[in-house]
Amino acid sequence: MFVAVLVKPAQKWGKIFNMTKLSVNINKIALLRNARGANYPNVSEMALLCEKYGAEGITVHPRPDERHIRYKDVMDLKPLLSTEFNIEGYPSEKFMDLVLKVKPHQVTLVPDAPDALTSNAGWDCFKHAAFLTEVLEAFCSKGIRTSLFVDTDSKQIEQAAKLGADRVELYTGPYAERFVKNPESAIKPYVHAAATARKNGLSINAGHDLNLHNLHFFQRNIPYVEEVSIGHALVVDALLMGLENSIQSYKNCIK
Ligand code: PXP
Repeated sequence: MFVAVLVKPAQKWGKIFNMTKLSVNINKIALLRNARGANYPNVSEMALLCEKYGAEGITVHPRPDERHIRYKDVMDLKPLLSTEFNIEGYPSEKFMDLVLKVKPHQVTLVPDAPDALTSNAGWDCFKHAAFLTEVLEAFCSKGIRTSLFVDTDSKQIEQAAKLGADRVELYTGPYAERFVKNPESAIKPYVHAAATARKNGLSINAGHDLNLHNLHFFQRNIPYVEEVSIGHALVVDALLMGLENSIQSYKNCIK
């Protein structure tokens, strides 16, 4: 499909901004392991292979029911990884204890209900201001970079900055949904949201439902995204083309 870009080519921006990093979310690999009870596939080994094949970070999202990544996986992974380790999740007491113990490079806070199928909205940074301020401070004081999962609403992003987050992760589910019909209108709120984030001193991550069709267009229009975290589609593509090819194909989209 041919899609027009709204900004200058990424190569030009590449001189000014850091290159966007690919963090592979390995939850789906853990889901496959859990389906049989034994340790196959071995999640740690697969994470190391992701790094070997070019992943610039590994993301895990332990949920309260541990239906994919387990808390023990997170502990096991920390000493093994040589790239950026990003732990996502709702900041329950148990989650916070885990993250503070593991001390990853980054924690991404997501407002999921315990039984959520997957993350489906960003934080209301006004309603949860007091809670988030306290949580962000707890991580910040231990030197862990913080990122808040947000929608594209400018007011929410400005508030995320005021609460003390280092980054925001733009929830790209709505982008992916609209991209299929109209890429230009799908990207517009994200270009605006990213500009607001930068203006307010926040670095930008993005994730959810990004895939080989929509990722390149996203990155070309917002070339200063620091990191995309991608799991579902990348693992599906790995079934079709192999893990190494899949990771390399995603990296090609954000070159
Ligand atoms: N970012 C967040 C906050 C998520 O919860 C997820 C899914 O676990 C992702 C990114 C990755 O989304 P996907 O699996 O659709 O690539």
